Amino acid sequence: MNHSILTCSPYFVELAVNEIRRHHPSVVVLATLSPGCLLVQTSTPFDQFIRPFRDRLPIYLHHLAPVQQTVALHQAEQTIEKWLCRHSTAILQARILPDMVNGADAISMSPANVLLQRLQQSNGKTATSASKILSVALARQNTKWKAFIGVSWANQNISPYAGGVRPYSVQMPNRAGYKLLEALTDFGIRLRAGDRALDLGAAPGAWTMVLRQHGLKVTAVAPTEMYPDLLNDPLVVYRGMTAEEYLPHAEGPFEVIVNDMRMDAQDSSRLMVSYARHLQADGIGIMTLKLRQPNMRRLMDHSFRILRRAYKIMQVRQLVSNRQEVCLFLRPKIE
Ligand SMILES: C[S@@+](CC[C@H](N)C(=O)[O-])C[C@H]1O[C@@H](n2cnc3c(N)ncnc32)[C@H](O)[C@@H]1O
Repeated sequence: MNHSILTCSPYFVELAVNEIRRHHPSVVVLATLSPGCLLVQTSTPFDQFIRPFRDRLPIYLHHLAPVQQTVALHQAEQTIEKWLCRHSTAILQARILPDMVNGADAISMSPANVLLQRLQQSNGKTATSASKILSVALARQNTKWKAFIGVSWANQNISPYAGGVRPYSVQMPNRAGYKLLEALTDFGIRLRAGDRALDLGAAPGAWTMVLRQHGLKVTAVAPTEMYPDLLNDPLVVYRGMTAEEYLPHAEGPFEVIVNDMRMDAQDSSRLMVSYARHLQADGIGIMTLKLRQPNMRRLMDHSFRILRRAYKIMQVRQLVSNRQEVCLFLRPKIE
């Protein structure tokens, strides 16, 4: 039997497991190691287990890492050294999974954290797609800390980063900014300098900032306040109103429409459809769909049906930086 650690958002565990089950119906969840981190078992070897997700990113899975050995914490360092000797070119990706009971707060005081610091100091290399990865997850199972260890190739994995968490060198003024950076990378979108973008629900302004950093001219629509620096930018036009109010006055057409409005997913989809006439035929749409329990899947399906009146849904991804939401890449539907 083969074991792996599945990582996803704690809000989307059931959907992530179903996403795997569609390809591997016999997968068994052995334990929840941490919110959104499950130990799973399958008869399929890891390279075949991961294969369905290699060419096209899954929606809910953030990461899958193989587990070929599990040891108690006091044996971990020695065992990891042996693995690194056997795979001398491997890059170590170590992480601690927050405790199910005590959460992230208990980590800093834990013996696992002392080990993690030591491991990270001795191995600060960044993975490339050609790298071999030694994944080490330190997790507390039944009150005892353990190390879950496994080797895979970075280009086999859903993400080349530990737990699927991409490090960013650019600083964003708020968490929302990382959503757009991650969406651009995951969806393979290249923004073109000089294009016009409409940012719906723009405040306080991290998405507008990312669009400006790519050289786009931005019309930012939000009923709340934007970062003052953006208001002084001559290539940002701020419309301090709701997207509903702005619709009859829209100054399009735009090459890009982004929408991160805090709004019911179906209402947001309907507004996005109304804005489709202001998007260029070869333009792109990026939006987040805010989902709530219960039955997020039904809410998503209904929102997709609304969006398909005007758009082709190119890709859907529950991004690592998303909370209870998914991110969509849209293209206008050509009649
Ligand atoms: C998650 S925040 C957006 C963060 C933004 N993307 C950023 O990067 O800073 C949600 C925004 O939606 C805006 N919003 C809520 N309802 C709206 C509506 N009807 N029309 C336009 N914006 C709306 C809120 O004012 C808030 O600024």
